Amino acid sequence: MAEILPTSPTAIFSAATLVGTGSLVAFPTETVYGLGANAENDQAVAAVFAAKGRPRFNPLIVHVADQAAAERLAEFDERARAVAWRFWPGPLTLVMRRRSDCALSLLVSAGLDTVALRVPNHPTASALLKAANCPIAAPSANPAGRLSPTTAQHVADGLGNAVALILDGGPCPIGIESTVIDLCSDQPTLLRPGGLASETVERFVGPLMRLRGNADASVGTRSPGLLTRHYAPCRPLRSYAHRPESGEAYLGFGPDTPDADLNLSLSGNVNEAAANLFSMIRRLDCAPFTGIAVAPVPEAGLGRAINDRLRRAAAASRADDWDDRGPSAPCVLPDEGDGEGS
Ligand code: TXA
Ligand code: MG
Repeated sequence: MAEILPTSPTAIFSAATLVGTGSLVAFPTETVYGLGANAENDQAVAAVFAAKGRPRFNPLIVHVADQAAAERLAEFDERARAVAWRFWPGPLTLVMRRRSDCALSLLVSAGLDTVALRVPNHPTASALLKAANCPIAAPSANPAGRLSPTTAQHVADGLGNAVALILDGGPCPIGIESTVIDLCSDQPTLLRPGGLASETVERFVGPLMRLRGNADASVGTRSPGLLTRHYAPCRPLRSYAHRPESGEAYLGFGPDTPDADLNLSLSGNVNEAAANLFSMIRRLDCAPFTGIAVAPVPEAGLGRAINDRLRRAAAASRADDWDDRGPSAPCVLPDEGDGEGS
């Protein structure tokens, strides 16, 4: 089982050394915990895919310490420079063409000629990136298809045997993955709503194009991750539920759901709800509940990212429809000590 070390200069040094020698290290970002590997080391990147059980066609986000480091890896034009200048460090990932002279492993791009780059805004992540002195490929530190981790313990529960070290920086303040925007064509495209509200990005770059779900023929080539199963708790999840059905746990939102088992935000604040989303779903994914019903969340600000994750979790619950999308990793419920299920 991986060692969990609270963030400290010594822990950062150990983590950076492990990354430098090709090992996997989990670390906090402002969005979710990442499963990090040296992005220039093919074997280390391959180990990330293996540890997560992630399909090889789904590329990884490469994290760097600052914009200058990012500009050494991808072709930045004036627009990309302006967007990066405005929103980095922060919960925004930019997909751009790889520079032909960059040393990144080809595996991080999963065969595409693009790379997804992000400068995280979290003291532990920033310190690790500076100390490691290499770009770090880091998908969310969860088994493929499952909920992203927002605490060090979540990482240990899902991937504890696969990582050398987990840096513990406490709960992630935003709690939902970064917003992913494709800047490869004239029209910027939203590939994944996330921790930076799309309205905020649109005020800066103008209207974002959206891919039309899995029906869009370009989805497979532009955002392979959209084709995979995602964010599934072990129990079936229903979103936009006004009340629970028999046996279901009820995850409320706002003051009108006082009888909920847990409430994403009693005051109806979508930012607070995002920060609570994954950890509360995990807490309700246990006996005696047979499923999880989630109250409606408004489609504005981070509510868009929350609803995106809930829709995908609900779709993944209808697992039989999704068999051609590849399996999720098996369910691991370490806290379930009552002998229920397997
Ligand atoms: O907040 C986050 O983004 C977290 C933290 C750790 O930084 N990372 C994360 O990584 O969520 P992951 O691998 O779970 O999600 C990456 C998403 C996937 O949907 C993937 O398909 C997409 O980014 N992506 C990565 N590289 C891409 C590329 N070159 N072109 C299009 N999409 C890409
Ligand atoms: Mg993920």
